[in-house]
Amino acid sequence: MSARPKVGIIVGSTRPTRVGRSVADELVGMVEAAGAEPVMLDLAELRLPLLDEALPPASGIRTQPHSIAWAEQVAALDGVVFVTPDYNSGYPAALKNAIDYLKEEWVGKPAVVVSYGWAGGQAAAAQLHAVLDYIGLARQGEGVRMPFQPTDFDESMHMVDAPAFVSRSSEALRESIEGLVAAAAAELVSA
Ligand SMILES: Cc1cc2nc3c(=O)[nH]c(=O)nc-3n(C[C@H](O)[C@H](O)[C@H](O)COP(=O)(O)O)c2cc1C
Repeated sequence: MSARPKVGIIVGSTRPTRVGRSVADELVGMVEAAGAEPVMLDLAELRLPLLDEALPPASGIRTQPHSIAWAEQVAALDGVVFVTPDYNSGYPAALKNAIDYLKEEWVGKPAVVVSYGWAGGQAAAAQLHAVLDYIGLARQGEGVRMPFQPTDFDESMHMVDAPAFVSRSSEALRESIEGLVAAAAAELVSA
């Protein structure tokens, strides 16, 4: 039996009350259903400092234990789902920081962007697409935009029902993740 491809789910938001982790949790089952092994990479848990390596990532030389661990985690993946909110028409600084730590580990890696926000996080997704394309990830299409509705939040701006929010986009998510897993499986075979 061939090994299942490993698909990382990178949670790009780090706020204590974030929606991002709830969205990512809902994606775990979809990655499994598509035949891959989900690997949750939550930037709030990883707590990478602001990039503190002396040499640029393209050098491949890393000295800090957190950089080495992050590089190993990403290198072990066959595909990546980036889960991002829209912060002031962009994606979060923590996510840019995590991306900037690495170079070769990203190159050629199949990836999709799942974004959310009042306009589905489309500005964040566009920014992130530009960066992923620049680095040379193998982006699988446009990914999925998930627009909020006012009723998604209570008066404290906490999301009321994350599974219901995600389920509005479930068809697009399933399709996007299936495409990603197919590309990740092809990577695994050709490696
Ligand atoms: C710093 C900040 C900036 C935001 N800017 C935008 C924005 O430009 N567009 C948007 O649709 N929502 C914006 N929002 C609202 C977020 O979409 C909403 O809070 C969402 O839950 C953030 O994702 P998170 O909970 O995973 O952090 C912003 C929220 C924060 C915290």
